[in-house]
Amino acid sequence: MARLIVGNWKMNLNPGEASVLVHRLEDKLAAKSDTEVVICPPFIDLYPISKELDKKKLTLGSQNIHYLDEGAFTGEISPAMLKGLVSYSIIGHSERRAMGEDDKLIAKKVAAAFRNDIVPVLCVGETLADREHKLSTKVVIDQLTADLAQLTAADVAELVVAYEPVWAIGTGKFAKPDEVSPVVAAIRQTIEELYGEDGAAGLRVLYGGSVNPDNCAAYLKLPGVDGLLVGGASLNYEEFAQIAKVAQDLK
Ligand code: PGA
Repeated sequence: MARLIVGNWKMNLNPGEASVLVHRLEDKLAAKSDTEVVICPPFIDLYPISKELDKKKLTLGSQNIHYLDEGAFTGEISPAMLKGLVSYSIIGHSERRAMGEDDKLIAKKVAAAFRNDIVPVLCVGETLADREHKLSTKVVIDQLTADLAQLTAADVAELVVAYEPVWAIGTGKFAKPDEVSPVVAAIRQTIEELYGEDGAAGLRVLYGGSVNPDNCAAYLKLPGVDGLLVGGASLNYEEFAQIAKVAQDLK
């Protein structure tokens, strides 16, 4: 399966700065590759970037969506507005869960993404306290089961799940590959149990949390890992392009 590298810019870069980064990044990326490289800039940058982007090198994603297509929700952006503009949307990132998003809301957002032909990059992951209580796998499986409650097997076949231990995000304390493997295996097994082999066949699973050019290969080599969700390093075009190159060059 082709690898997927997703960059989450978070709340950084205005449209002018975004344009500079995109051009520098494109200059560094291979002209042709099986690896899909996705950038998720802030909403305000999406439209202008879509006009200048080299679609052979980069794909656009959003960092969030609303769960309804329209309505009286001041300040929100609906998936119907993003339809055709983005191919992916990060949903359920731990930074949004920390602001109060729960699994019920996230399940509605995942369904809203599919309704608008947007592939969700559903983020799941345990906190440090969960991990210390040896609850990593249980927490992740509980999130996954609740977040996918509204989906069909056909939806799930397109899904991307990003396993991001909360304690590893933006901390430089990345998870050891042997800590990632059992959780990734449990994610795949859960999807297979819930949606059958066909549902599980297309599922892509990413690792995220302090990914950098030096540690990325170890995750990409793990069985069941199809790619990476990259935060801080995606704002550095040289580092992000290096990560994409590692993914492209790995057999
Ligand atoms: P990080 O962020 O790579 O800076 O740890 C990852 C993420 O938040 O998706």
